[in-house]
Amino acid sequence: MNSIHTAQRVDARAKVTGALRYGADRLPDQLAHAAFAVATIGKGRILAVDTEAAQQVPSVQLVITSIDLNELGSPGFIMAGGYGFQSLQPLVGDRVAYRGQPIALVVADTLVAATEAVELITATYEAEPFAVTLDDPGAETLVQADAIPIPMLADTVAGEADAAFAAAPVQVDIEIHGPAQHQVPMELISSVVEWRGDTLVVHEGTQNSGAIQNGVAQQLGIDPARVEVLSPSVGGGFGQKNSLQPHIGPLAIAARRLGRPVRLVLTRPQTFHHASFRPASRQRLRLGADSSGRLLAAIHEIDQQTSRHDLFPALYTEVSSRLYGIGDFRGRQRLVRTDVQTPGYMRAPFEHVSAMESAVDAVAYATGQDPVAIRLANDALQDPVTGLPFSSRHVAECLRRGAERFGWAERTPQPRSMRAPDGALVGWGVAIGAYPGNVAPAIARLSAGADGTVAVAVTGHEMGQGIRTAIALLVAEDLGVDPAAVDVGVGDTRLAPQHLTAGSWGTATALPAVHAALRRLRDRLGLLGTGPVDLGAAVAASGGSRVEVEATTVGIGQPVEPMVDRLRKGLVAIAGPEYPGFVTFSYIAHFVEVRVEPTTCRIRVPRVVSVADCGRVASPVTAASQVRGGVVWGIGATLREQSLVDTRYGGFLNSTMEEYPIPVNADIHRIDVDFVDEPDPLLNAVGVKGLGEVAMVGVSAAIGNAVFHATGARFRRLPIHIEDVLAAL
Ligand code: MOS
Repeated sequence: MNSIHTAQRVDARAKVTGALRYGADRLPDQLAHAAFAVATIGKGRILAVDTEAAQQVPSVQLVITSIDLNELGSPGFIMAGGYGFQSLQPLVGDRVAYRGQPIALVVADTLVAATEAVELITATYEAEPFAVTLDDPGAETLVQADAIPIPMLADTVAGEADAAFAAAPVQVDIEIHGPAQHQVPMELISSVVEWRGDTLVVHEGTQNSGAIQNGVAQQLGIDPARVEVLSPSVGGGFGQKNSLQPHIGPLAIAARRLGRPVRLVLTRPQTFHHASFRPASRQRLRLGADSSGRLLAAIHEIDQQTSRHDLFPALYTEVSSRLYGIGDFRGRQRLVRTDVQTPGYMRAPFEHVSAMESAVDAVAYATGQDPVAIRLANDALQDPVTGLPFSSRHVAECLRRGAERFGWAERTPQPRSMRAPDGALVGWGVAIGAYPGNVAPAIARLSAGADGTVAVAVTGHEMGQGIRTAIALLVAEDLGVDPAAVDVGVGDTRLAPQHLTAGSWGTATALPAVHAALRRLRDRLGLLGTGPVDLGAAVAASGGSRVEVEATTVGIGQPVEPMVDRLRKGLVAIAGPEYPGFVTFSYIAHFVEVRVEPTTCRIRVPRVVSVADCGRVASPVTAASQVRGGVVWGIGATLREQSLVDTRYGGFLNSTMEEYPIPVNADIHRIDVDFVDEPDPLLNAVGVKGLGEVAMVGVSAAIGNAVFHATGARFRRLPIHIEDVLAAL
């Protein structure tokens, strides 16, 4: 086997030995500790904040309750041309937009003192009525295409879906409710902020060091060149750390006033209220078919929660319109304003609850078709929305390979027809997933030494997904050096301009730039072609101790200068999934077995087989791990996870790891992962597409379909609770 296929995570040893340093692990001399006091009303106005008792706590250095707008501007909302996860900047102004919004920042010599002091802070408010669910009076529903009239967010429409649905002999009409959920990464949102002269240095685990750099500079009115953001390793992001967090501005001000570095680690409950989350959603999907199971028309309508102060756009139909070759499709996305912090991207934000994959399963039963066969028969040969070819699409191979590995042929189609030896109802379900193939501009800098070492700095962040390993392997394979000898610099604004790493575009963004830099390096050293080289000798022969090259790449069809300008400004600059001449998505097929215990109705998932098409697999070990993680999360999201809102007081009730149930080892059993591993021929020179999010898309639907096969009942409100199953059986 090629060594690439067994290469381990390059930072594995540092991770498990604790040598890896995350953002707030940095403890400079004279470090002061900060903590937030937060609002206890659901909405309204602050009349007064009483900080007197807090000021008396020994070692408290500073209490900030109000910052002038001239001193700290709005971060702007990232999806509206700004930098922040929301436009709202706490501590500026007297508005309380939601329960849990910070109202005071305390800085003390110790974390204990800061924590004690915030507990002593009280406030008086003028409270107002608020809405926290999609159905609360006061929740305001907007049609997205009208509220944010930009082409990217327009409703997807192809053909005449309403007429075609009305004429379809087989009609399925389903509604699925997705709860609010939170990312709950291991690493809490945290920073160490320090001034070195007039340069602000921010250590923070983030997916978007470029937005922090440019955003906090804009907020403070300083030159972005005077801000350095270091995020070499992130302890899990999943979208929660994808933008400028509104604590950084106040911390920078506190650090300047005190002349000391300041550290803030949000408490776990604060991460439920002071960062983005997966919004609650309601999807209705009508799917029409003929009696042979040929899919004819689909109408997909979505209501998605947003905040009162920002419109977090919904993009459900970009994928649902492309899962099958359905010529007549109509999407309609609406946003529901509620009094929460602005929700945002959380792994496969819109796609993971796949209404289409639940509806297709219902059509399979209605027409007597096998769930795998109906999916294969309705595969899209070209993009049904634009008519363009797909750059690559191997979802049929994912289905065929997955069915083989899973043993699908042994399935008996009738619901409740399969039983385990212990009497449990057994269900087998399948679903496919797709995720847009986006890419962003990137700059890679390569430095090769006469000692044979290679350093690469590139646009990208390591959130645990394995990007550092994928980059090291690309360089190692190209030059024939040991991956461990490749020094990879990511997430550091000092080394290369940094774009948001999200939307599964990290690998397809960073690797092409590194690939282009490798070509340049070979050119410079006269090492044309490919294959192992004596790098040290070639560098030495060039006459210096190091050779440095730089390369810039953008998405196909993207104009270079404007996109690189946006990259340098820390703004979102993505291309795709529609490119000139082709359309790109990644794909997956999930096969799931569930067992439903007849007395307790507890649902277990003893095995899953997942086969992905992410183009060329850049790093097999970390890619497989990423897919397993997506499946684990799909299981959690379907059977456990739900952020409970408090309609009496606002905010989220179960904002701790004790009360927000994520899967534990006892919940997770066999997960077999396989890859088609066919390079995409058009998206970039390396042949890679995205993987992180498609891994999770469809897991939930596959579980739901398996539960139907086991029990004969459909559950349309997620997560599926034991009491729902008890009531239905
Ligand atoms: Mo991801 S949810 O796009 O950070």
